[in-house]
Amino acid sequence: MKISVIGAGYVGLVTGCCLAEIGHEVVCTDNDPAKLKVLESGGLPIYEPGLDRVIENARKDKRLRFLSDPGETIRSGDAIFICVGTPPLPDGDADLSAIDNVARLIATEARSPKLVVEKSTVPARTGQELKRALAVYGRKSGVELRVASNPEFLREGTAVGDFLHPDRIVVGVEDETAEKQLREIYRPVIERSFQCPIHTPKCPNGPAPSFVVTTINSAELIKHASNSFLALKISYANMVADLAEKLGADIEEVTQAMGMDPRIGSTFLKAGLGFGGFCLPKDLQAFVHLAERSGVDFSMLKEAEKINHGRIERFYEKVREMLWVIRGKQIGVLGLAFKANTDDVRFSPAIDMIRHLLAQGARIRAYDPEAVERAKAILPEIEYAKSPYDAAQDSEALVIATEWDEFRKLDWERVQKAMVRPLILDGRNLLSPKEMKARGFEYRCFGRASANA
Ligand SMILES: NC(=O)c1ccc[n+]([C@@H]2O[C@H](COP(=O)([O-])OP(=O)(O)OC[C@H]3O[C@@H](n4cnc5c(N)ncnc54)[C@H](O)[C@@H]3O)[C@@H](O)[C@H]2O)c1
Repeated sequence: MKISVIGAGYVGLVTGCCLAEIGHEVVCTDNDPAKLKVLESGGLPIYEPGLDRVIENARKDKRLRFLSDPGETIRSGDAIFICVGTPPLPDGDADLSAIDNVARLIATEARSPKLVVEKSTVPARTGQELKRALAVYGRKSGVELRVASNPEFLREGTAVGDFLHPDRIVVGVEDETAEKQLREIYRPVIERSFQCPIHTPKCPNGPAPSFVVTTINSAELIKHASNSFLALKISYANMVADLAEKLGADIEEVTQAMGMDPRIGSTFLKAGLGFGGFCLPKDLQAFVHLAERSGVDFSMLKEAEKINHGRIERFYEKVREMLWVIRGKQIGVLGLAFKANTDDVRFSPAIDMIRHLLAQGARIRAYDPEAVERAKAILPEIEYAKSPYDAAQDSEALVIATEWDEFRKLDWERVQKAMVRPLILDGRNLLSPKEMKARGFEYRCFGRASANA
């Protein structure tokens, strides 16, 4: 099928590249000329493991093109995937102006029937507004524009695998044609009939993804309700961690055993600096707004948000307790991205934590395997290190702020030699307190009484 993708960010690029990978003809655009320039010249403006291989395949087979002309992009596809950003407004509600702009463009530029697919995360009832906008702006053309919701559940860092091997594909539709078209688009994924670019020679066995057909309102609600639930889970684990610390228990032991219960599940139970990124914080806020607007008291979500904000202060207390005076001291920071395996620093707890330390007069020397360039754009006032050892050099403490795997396996003797004081403050519970103490480090983390005694 011919598919247009509007918005070439994390979701748009993964969507466009993966749809091309499974055999569709994809044209993609973005209103950021710098991003398009990188893409048109054969590069990738984001770091996402495996995406380089997928985009290379698609380019080689001429199934993926990038265009700066949005009108031409819209006219190229039978289905148009809207993948633009929906950032938070100052009051936390979702800013849907990019969706509105795209609706206007589609309505005025389309010359043949289109299926308009909301892939961006939007509050419930946005599809209804989108339909209205398309009808209003497109009233002169008379072109048939159907709307569907197809929320995206991919996670940065594992996005290609998540897209090609999802647990479920949710489609919110109002007519059979839209359902048929979406089923056709995802057929290779549902039937696993594509040549998988990440698993060679063959994908691991597992259940085929469920194709879940709902109303548009339900599909939109599924996405916000899912992300808010994940946020709740993380905040819950963080509260249990605080309690474990007071009671002399170990949060890692507790959550590991909790997670073995299939009713609970082991993911999103990690205690630490809390959640960040472009999804959970903003989706939680937007969901709170939606509930308030709808007259539903969903204050438990506000509590989850408050707990999450409080993690930075909680961590800072540990830093202060260990360093006593912070002003003038150099602190090394490992990790800037909001999570491992991405270069995304949007709403990153690592960045929040650095800002907190800077406000108290600390000097920061930070390292991240992929996110330094993005961090420089929003945090020019700190020093950037070339390696974890360079970040440790002459530091009085080394903070682990992102759970990159490489931070688990450092040459700790080298780290120790580089530091002024061998103090590790592990904001992601990445290391073993026992091992770190045996190596001669002072070590602090979340929810492990033995480490924090
Ligand atoms: N990042 C994730 O992990 C993830 C996962 C699931 C869902 N989502 C949702 O997907 C949406 C996009 O997220 P993202 O992380 O890809 O954001 P992003 O900021 O990386 O990408 C959005 C892109 O849209 C472009 N854009 C904005 N307005 C435009 C317009 N009028 N015309 C053309 N391009 C335009 C921007 O330049 C940008 O490149 C959001 O609603 C987000 O909540 C994100």
